[in-house]
Amino acid sequence: MTEPFQMDHPATDRRLDDMAQGLVGAPLDRPDGPLKVTGTATYANEWQVEGMVHGVMVRAPGNSGRVVLSNTAEVARMPGVLSVVQDDRMLRNPAQGGANEAPVQGPHHAAYFGQLVAVVVAESFEQARHAAQSLKVTLDDAEQVAVTPEGAAVERQTDKTLDQGDLDRAMDEAAHSVDVVYTTPSHSSSPMEPHASIASWEGEDLTLRGSYQMLKFNRNELADSLGIHPDRVRILSPYVGGGFGSKLGLAPEAVAAAVAAKAVGRPVSVALHRQQVYEATMRRSETRQRLRLAADAEGRLIGFGHEARVSNLPGETFAEPVLQASHFLYAGANRKMSLDLARVHRLCAGSVRAPGEAVGVTVVENAMDELAHAAGLDPVELRLRNIPPTDPESGKEYSSRRFREALESGAEIFGWSDRPGVKERREGDWLIGYGMASAARVNVLKESEARVTLLSDGTARVETDMTDIGTGTYAILGQIAGDMLGLPRDSVEVVLGDTNLPSGSGSGGSWGASSSGSAVYLACAAIRQQIAQRLDVDEHDLLLKDAQATFNNRTETLADILQGHEIAKLGHVKPGDTSDAVRQATFGAYFAEVGVNAVTGETRVRRMHGTFAAGRILNAKTARSQCLGGMTFGIGMALMEEVAFDPRDGHVVNHNLAEYHIPVNADVPQLTVELLEERDDWASPVQAKGIGELGICGAGAAITNAIFNATGVRVRDYPATLDKLI
Ligand code: MOS
Repeated sequence: MTEPFQMDHPATDRRLDDMAQGLVGAPLDRPDGPLKVTGTATYANEWQVEGMVHGVMVRAPGNSGRVVLSNTAEVARMPGVLSVVQDDRMLRNPAQGGANEAPVQGPHHAAYFGQLVAVVVAESFEQARHAAQSLKVTLDDAEQVAVTPEGAAVERQTDKTLDQGDLDRAMDEAAHSVDVVYTTPSHSSSPMEPHASIASWEGEDLTLRGSYQMLKFNRNELADSLGIHPDRVRILSPYVGGGFGSKLGLAPEAVAAAVAAKAVGRPVSVALHRQQVYEATMRRSETRQRLRLAADAEGRLIGFGHEARVSNLPGETFAEPVLQASHFLYAGANRKMSLDLARVHRLCAGSVRAPGEAVGVTVVENAMDELAHAAGLDPVELRLRNIPPTDPESGKEYSSRRFREALESGAEIFGWSDRPGVKERREGDWLIGYGMASAARVNVLKESEARVTLLSDGTARVETDMTDIGTGTYAILGQIAGDMLGLPRDSVEVVLGDTNLPSGSGSGGSWGASSSGSAVYLACAAIRQQIAQRLDVDEHDLLLKDAQATFNNRTETLADILQGHEIAKLGHVKPGDTSDAVRQATFGAYFAEVGVNAVTGETRVRRMHGTFAAGRILNAKTARSQCLGGMTFGIGMALMEEVAFDPRDGHVVNHNLAEYHIPVNADVPQLTVELLEERDDWASPVQAKGIGELGICGAGAAITNAIFNATGVRVRDYPATLDKLI
């Protein structure tokens, strides 16, 4: 059996728990926070690059056919206009499969309504916008294409199919069972900062100021789109105003800016407006999920079936991984799972806020609630009875799993024992209900590099092309380096978001903090070893604290020890094979109280609690904030979020924040979060797992289960809007 991490990395036997300063884990503020709220953090579209001009993109007015721009010459003569650029490299659809996927049906062919097909460049933004609006775009030889999953060709994802034992027989023999179909609609990431890029060329070298999550990967995508070597591309993304998956892969404006800048020979800025973000970046696929749960008389699962259908554009490989947590969350010897991908002409489907589990665990948790009701069991008790001893499919051990404690502690904190019966509690016009759900998410470590330099003045600098998408990277990497090198947090400068720096993990899939944090940790461990060597002491007998080193009963300042030199080390973490040796995942539990208005059907979440376990907590404040954000989006998923597609042509109907509803402050009650500490030697050298997305993975089900408890109504088609309740 493969050994856990600290064995693979002898440098990491110095545990963060032994460090004297206590920065790691502390609820420290984000150093970028004041910059962001005072407008001094420069976002992609705010750079002023000398000689810069502006590009505005235009959209396809249909879902298929060859794009024809019929008045290009006329538009090109409009005031300030420099160029109308139509280039098929813009039509390729960088998704998240690795290389740049390209559903280009033919030259100049559009694949979905709203696809961005050309860019108009002018001296000023206003001139470019006016010219873009004046451009006549039509589609020739349009065909009839599928825009709804129901009417589309479907491909079974054979590598996602599981048939273990005999589920049909288990369903027949079950004392209690449910066989239900749920649907979840498409979701939009909806980051506050729209996608924007400024491209400038110096000869054959391209610099892109953009807003992206995964810079190394984005650089490769951009180079691939343009047909140039990645070494020629530099991406700068020091501040990112939210991504939620929509900035994992390149959006169309990046390629457009690069192509246009080359065409006009000047730096070009292209910012998508909100409508374009909704229509032409990416979406979470809608899902149709059938759950079959079979239990014995005591509520122990003997069968677990999860069959899902999702959608994507023809040619795209990404399929919302709905079944991801179904493989490891609950017991059940007879298991059947399948994932079908429908080919629809809608904007590209990709990762949005915990792809897979956000919608998959949510529906599993609804089905579990239905089973608890059928079996007459407390929903918490049903879950406790079905925690598998080892992974129910592979038999592997879990690396760490405080799932039982999360269920029990969460129930205690929330006051679950006070739960009313179905439709039993009423306060005036409000029907009151309690609901709960489990949380689960796979854990991923990504290869990551960071350079840490201990400067001769006894301060340090951390450098990596890792991003901070609002999640706390600047804070956390400084905490780790501070503790490891014995420096106050303010003596560590963290530099991020530049592809010229060592390649970080990027921000996504909840892996950012544990992966990039581990790279920083390993770099610091190497610096500690070098200091120890220089002082001729064992590293374990070296105490670094307050910018001083204590060893052999002596104390010297780091600056004195360095004698004008600096020490720079590269930390490099690779997942290796530890990720396959054990089952690594994060767990938790949600509890919600809702009031449903008996007259209007309106649901208000009155309070909500989450208990989560995700390895070492690197910063208690940013970890909690991630969980609050996840639960908030869970409220959105349960009650309001839905991208509405016109069934005739597949265009996005609600393409702005006014009509695509996400929760606002008035929708979110006081949320409480409890974090259960773990030390996971398998997950990462810093013993942390990913927490970023855990808070949404099942959260919506606590609310819809509470709606059932309040009203006796099962809403199986998300979101649970009031029309479905009256
Ligand atoms: Mo995430 S949806 O992997 O940014």
